[in-house]
Amino acid sequence: MEQVDAVRWTRGRVTAVAHRIAVIGGDGIGPEVVAEALKVTRAAGVELDTTDFDLGGARYLRDGTVLPDDVLEDLRTFDAILLGAVGTPDVPPGVIERGLLLKMRFALDQYVNQRPFSLPEEGIDFVVIRENTEGTYAGEGGFLRKGTPREIATQGSVNTRHGVERVVRYAFDLAASRPRRHLTLVHKTNVLTFAGDLWQRTFTEVAAEFPQVTTDYNHVDAACIYFVTDPQRYDVIVTDNLFGDILTDLAGAVSGGIGFASSGNLDPSQRAPSMFEPVHGSAPDIAGQAKANPIAAILSAAMMMELLGETDAAGRIRKACAAVTDLTAPTPAIGDAVAEKL
Ligand code: NAD
Ligand code: IPM
Ligand code: MN
Repeated sequence: MEQVDAVRWTRGRVTAVAHRIAVIGGDGIGPEVVAEALKVTRAAGVELDTTDFDLGGARYLRDGTVLPDDVLEDLRTFDAILLGAVGTPDVPPGVIERGLLLKMRFALDQYVNQRPFSLPEEGIDFVVIRENTEGTYAGEGGFLRKGTPREIATQGSVNTRHGVERVVRYAFDLAASRPRRHLTLVHKTNVLTFAGDLWQRTFTEVAAEFPQVTTDYNHVDAACIYFVTDPQRYDVIVTDNLFGDILTDLAGAVSGGIGFASSGNLDPSQRAPSMFEPVHGSAPDIAGQAKANPIAAILSAAMMMELLGETDAAGRIRKACAAVTDLTAPTPAIGDAVAEKL
């Protein structure tokens, strides 16, 4: 029996399958931009069966809930997760970021954080593949003698051969599928001589399996220069968790603005759902004022559609986003404008 993308046979009829999406609007501008992403995706003709999860700083302040284990188990049953942003100034740093966002990325083993950047009029078209489960994010470390003059705080970087190899391999696969077939490793091998050495050796070994991919290496500080002066040089970049976090805010800023930067937290093995979210945060400075650009969230939803087999809708959403010119309009008006251009 022939199967078409996102279409399955049900009782002798062909029916479009509604994708089961867990929605975490979160805090600040998160719910504002997610509403537009859902509006546009539905306007593109995709059937979504959404379930809202009330999680984030606001929920924590109300009843102390961050991410209970049974909610995490429930999230596993969805086709994908769409997230706005989490974190608010009223909650101590890390409670929500680590307890909710990183907990999901780690527990669902979304080891690839894929962040594409494109500004065709300037010839910018590159993808950052950020390792998403290890490095300084792993939570290694702690305090000794906290609050005393002899306090010690450590925060180590955890890099496993398995963790590095799987993300490097994913980046090579992706580079091999793109026209330029070029992959740059970004690290700080001149100072991080343990972690950097593992990354460099792994990269070199995997490169031997991909003779069609040309490779390069940049130290992360130099990459910051090139992101500003010559971002056109990049095709695919692979880098560690923290470098990838910092570089992708910069990448957003040089390729149109952070309001256009989308991302996917992917488990390429598909054992668990992947999670799609804009690169930006909850932007408390503009929350509640309809000033947020929802394009980053809309493009993240397009990435989600691509993964769920809705390639045509994903393409139309991307095109419609590119066709919208008035980005000073209120958030819902930008969503409407994208929907009209589909
Ligand atoms: P931020 O990305 O929220 O904001 C940085 C700057 O970019 C602000 O000036 C903001 O107004 C602007 N900006 C961000 N998104 C925008 C959009 N769509 N349209 C227009 N302008 C936009 O970063 P921050 O201020 O460092 O962090 C605020 C909170 O968000 C913190 O609690 C942080 O931990 C959290 N955060 C969450 C995520 C996430 O949930 N994925 C990502 C980053 C930061
Ligand atoms: C991002 C964010 C997160 C990160 C924070 C909120 C944990 O900055 O998705 O880029 O550092 O990964
Ligand atoms: Mn970030």
